[in-house]
Amino acid sequence: MCGIVGCIGNKEAMSYLISGLHRLEYRGYDSAGVVTVNDKGATLLRAKGKVAELEYLTSKNISKDIVGIGHTRWATHGEPSELNAHPHKAGDIYLVHNGIIENYKELRSELKKHKFSSQTDTEVLAALIDSFYSDDTELVDAVTQALQLTVGTYGIAVVSVRNPEEIVVARAGSPLIIGIGSDETYIASDASALIGYTTQAIYLNDGEIAICRRDGVKLRNLAAQPISARVETIEIDMQAIQKQGYDHFLLKEICEQPQTLRSTLSGRVNVEDCLVKLGGLNLTTEELKNIEHVTIIGCGTAYYAGLLGSYYLEQLVDGLTVDVAMASELRYRSFHLPKNTVALVISQSGETADTLACLRELKQRGVKTLGIINAVGSTIAREVDGGVYVHAGPEISVASTKAFTSQAVTITMFGVQVAQAKGARAKDVSKFIEELDRLPSEIESVITKYKERVAAIAKRYAHYEHAIFFGRDTLYPVALEGALKLKEISYIQAEGFAAGELKHGPIALVDNAFFEVALILDNWLFDKSLSALAEVNARGGHIIAITNSKKEIDAEEVLFIDTELDLLAPIVLNIAQQLFAYYVTLAKGYDVDQPRNLAKSVTVE
Ligand code: M6R
Repeated sequence: MCGIVGCIGNKEAMSYLISGLHRLEYRGYDSAGVVTVNDKGATLLRAKGKVAELEYLTSKNISKDIVGIGHTRWATHGEPSELNAHPHKAGDIYLVHNGIIENYKELRSELKKHKFSSQTDTEVLAALIDSFYSDDTELVDAVTQALQLTVGTYGIAVVSVRNPEEIVVARAGSPLIIGIGSDETYIASDASALIGYTTQAIYLNDGEIAICRRDGVKLRNLAAQPISARVETIEIDMQAIQKQGYDHFLLKEICEQPQTLRSTLSGRVNVEDCLVKLGGLNLTTEELKNIEHVTIIGCGTAYYAGLLGSYYLEQLVDGLTVDVAMASELRYRSFHLPKNTVALVISQSGETADTLACLRELKQRGVKTLGIINAVGSTIAREVDGGVYVHAGPEISVASTKAFTSQAVTITMFGVQVAQAKGARAKDVSKFIEELDRLPSEIESVITKYKERVAAIAKRYAHYEHAIFFGRDTLYPVALEGALKLKEISYIQAEGFAAGELKHGPIALVDNAFFEVALILDNWLFDKSLSALAEVNARGGHIIAITNSKKEIDAEEVLFIDTELDLLAPIVLNIAQQLFAYYVTLAKGYDVDQPRNLAKSVTVE
């Protein structure tokens, strides 16, 4: 949520700032701004809307300064507007901020000297820093004093015309990375902005402040004590953050799932020996054997992947109890967990504020936490006791697709490993292992075979205002995920239900403004699924059935997905739903990758 960039070097900063903001735009895109400074003054440019609007301004107001910071915003305090866009100015300083200053109202009422021009909490922090920034104060000291009074979350970058030799950055709860170049230093809230500029980076921890100069970085804490820097290597290649010929990142990310899933499985599933081995769990076989309960947390799509994974864990591990919670809810509940619980923390970005808060709560209670994370080096990945990277590669489109598939698969692999630690024999898990191994090519064939047909169906249903998705058992989480995907990018009001629940209320909705997506597996629940379908048909429903069954199904459209998979077929059917959401949105002409009101990586509560 909100992208931050910064640069101090020996060449014009603007080029990196704009390129970085384009790459971080998926973190927020309601307004954007940059400031570059020199000892005579500053060039401050801000625009409502996308980075392209800002870029246009920079082409009219050329800056040759070698120091600057920039920001792309997802509004929290104050509407999207030029005045509320960052950077915010107070005296000689300029500030960009990601996060929320919770005590901004009290602080604002005390900052009488500053004339506020925005509604933001960020301008309050800028004014607070300025109030400590006297002629004989270093910028870093003013920032430190201000942060000591600040309650809330922040990733910030500050520059001053009084000292254009440095950028001061600090972090508490919102990610910040410092890229170390050969003769320049970069700032980014997400590693993708640094690709092509440097591979060496310092990931700031909470409570750390850094003074970034062209030739180096000094780290200290909020008590002004020095800290030694840990330089890490970023391993993302340029192709991973480019569209590579696709019209949209979403389509690219859907279509690359066979490869990303192969990376998820690689070196972990051994079909010949019928074994799964996840490195990084930091649990001995004895500890795995002793797990009695698994609690899974996540938000949005990650939560749905967790829910699907919970069905697989229950199928795989005899006697294991599993619960799944939305992190945004669990963190405020008076929950109790049985002994020998392990928590699986699911997150694509590894930065989701609710999930992170929940993780910290679990750790405080002494629960062993394992991350199932995509973004390497992210906060959650660094704070869990152990875990597994899903290796799906950068997910740029706001709607999460490939992460879901890799997360569900990783939980399944975890289930196999726990089952084996508890004594399951090869034959007990072999079907799962075989299906895991075949899943990438099954997904490949679904995309190739059904893309056109899904596009045609999507076109036909794009004019509807409402949709219901329903499925039983493992298809219930898939129905929830299908509805989320459709609503977040096409703005069709879509809800997912357990098929058996329709008759307990939701079926009252069925009318001509609705279509229904019925997910049906050719398994022991087939007839039960048909009953729900018949009930909707009887009330004039407009049903699209997505199924792996060749048997007759009475629906307006039947999308038969030819897959030999059984247990993991829900993951395959979900690919069709992803394509459906994409093509409906395309037909409606909306912004597929950056839907309104949303942002990737939700780093605020
Ligand atoms: O980065 P995370 O996986 O923690 O994000 C969780 C949700 O914010 C995310 O899945 C969101 O629901 C997506 N926009 C769904 O497509």
